[in-house]
Amino acid sequence: MSEEYVLQLQHIRKEYPGVVALKDVTLELKPGEILALIGENGAGKSTLIKCCSGAVIPTSGKIIVNGKEFTSMTPQLAAENGIAIIYQEFNNVKELSAAENLFLGRPIKKGIVIDKAAMEREAAKAFEQLHIKIDPKALMKNLTVGYQQMVEIAKAIQQNAKILIMDEPSAPLTSAEVESMFEVVERLRKEGVSIIYISHRLEEIYRLSDRIVVLRDGEYIKTLITKESHVQELIKLMVGRELTQTYPPRGDCIDENEVILELKDVTGNGDKNISLKVHKGEILGLGGLVGAGRTELAQMIFGAVKKQSGEIYFKGKEINPKSPREAIDIGIALVPEDRKRHGALLGVSIKNNINMPIYQRNSTLSVINSKVERETAEKYEKSMAIKTPSLQQLVKNLSGGNQQKVILAKWLAADAELIIVDEPTRGIDVGAKYEIYKLMNELVEKEGKAIIMISSEMEELMGMSDRIVVLSEGNMTGSLEKSEFSQETIMAYASAARMEEG
Ligand SMILES: Nc1ncnc2c1ncn2[C@@H]1O[C@H](COP(=O)(O)OP(=O)(O)OP(=O)(O)O)[C@@H](O)[C@H]1O
Ligand SMILES: [Mg+2]
Repeated sequence: MSEEYVLQLQHIRKEYPGVVALKDVTLELKPGEILALIGENGAGKSTLIKCCSGAVIPTSGKIIVNGKEFTSMTPQLAAENGIAIIYQEFNNVKELSAAENLFLGRPIKKGIVIDKAAMEREAAKAFEQLHIKIDPKALMKNLTVGYQQMVEIAKAIQQNAKILIMDEPSAPLTSAEVESMFEVVERLRKEGVSIIYISHRLEEIYRLSDRIVVLRDGEYIKTLITKESHVQELIKLMVGRELTQTYPPRGDCIDENEVILELKDVTGNGDKNISLKVHKGEILGLGGLVGAGRTELAQMIFGAVKKQSGEIYFKGKEINPKSPREAIDIGIALVPEDRKRHGALLGVSIKNNINMPIYQRNSTLSVINSKVERETAEKYEKSMAIKTPSLQQLVKNLSGGNQQKVILAKWLAADAELIIVDEPTRGIDVGAKYEIYKLMNELVEKEGKAIIMISSEMEELMGMSDRIVVLSEGNMTGSLEKSEFSQETIMAYASAARMEEG
């Protein structure tokens, strides 16, 4: 029995039909440390931590919590032993209040009736303890994603968790929300909570963690002391090869004479008087803070929401798509930001998901060419390195990042002339990111498409765009040529509307 570790995973193996998700993985968590768990999409991170919560039963191996040995966990056992997990796709009940979610599955009762007031009191205490301002009565669906996640963290604290496991907690958060989450995580560590933190954002790993465990292809690769490691080394351990460039080079392929999309004074959906042009062969970046109105603009172009005034021209002709279906027929594709809700059909195979827009376009044909269907799916499986035993695999069985790749592939395969991508690489590992950038380059360079890329990642925005248009609170506040790109300038424009008002 070892007191040195609060949690030990020993020789964990997990098999699924056709996939060995984990092969002999061993790791240890020390009291009061933040241990980062990193690896490519499909490396086995989520599967491993689900073994700690009982959501996954390991094929073999041992889980040792504070010296107590288990061959598998149950949610109840995990809770009793002080383990709490915040999942990659957290599952709260949107129609219930923050307090009710906090006590989900273990409500406070007075006799046989649920004591709502007591739960609200306790929730208020828990939120206060974390220095977060959430009204316990507020419905979950009315809270921002950041606050929803704080409720999850508060729940872990309320249960007196000594081991907190967080699976990509920052992925859906705005940068301000990430900051407050970090504060909470640091505070918990000071109070002696041990934390396992999963993220694809390496700068977070460096900021937060004490040690780093690297997984690759279901195998344990190495444990590093964060302070003594270097980011290039990490990437190499994760990807298994050297990655020297962050952004693949792209030749000059913009055709200034061919405007694919033009907006003139477009107003609606929270946006005011937006005018911009995208040319053939161009990647136009849309920058701004979360909530600046970028996704809203994309929705109007895609016909998902009606504009109030202004004009949209597609290759010189005015268009007025009244539904996404119409937009797709015109030649516009949108890879949505909220991929869980608008993205993939989870119970359908990878192959059918990727070919979905093609089926829709060819709906008049009774026979679909199965060879083309297979080739299309294979092309993207390869270029995006989708990790799966077969293209028949259901999308719900893929890792989070690989689900994202399928959705991206589906829209890239749609053969649209204008592709709008909303946060295209969120939740995607460094190696696959590079492949996606290459694919985007190919689309503009070789196939002469136009791309609008919405991104909150400053580096990505500057690394991939030919021009950047910045929105702030529904207004277009800036348009930058490549020579003018800088983090400071973009930030200044992104907060411009607020400055003018104040
Ligand atoms: N229910 C399942 N059935 C079949 N295969 C599965 C199932 N769950 C996970 N897998 C497979 O196990 C492997 C590991 O997946 P896991 O979700 O642990 O990856 P991950 O490291 O969390 O990736 P990501 O960064 O994309 O979230 C993947 O190849 C995945 O397809
Ligand atoms: Mg995962």
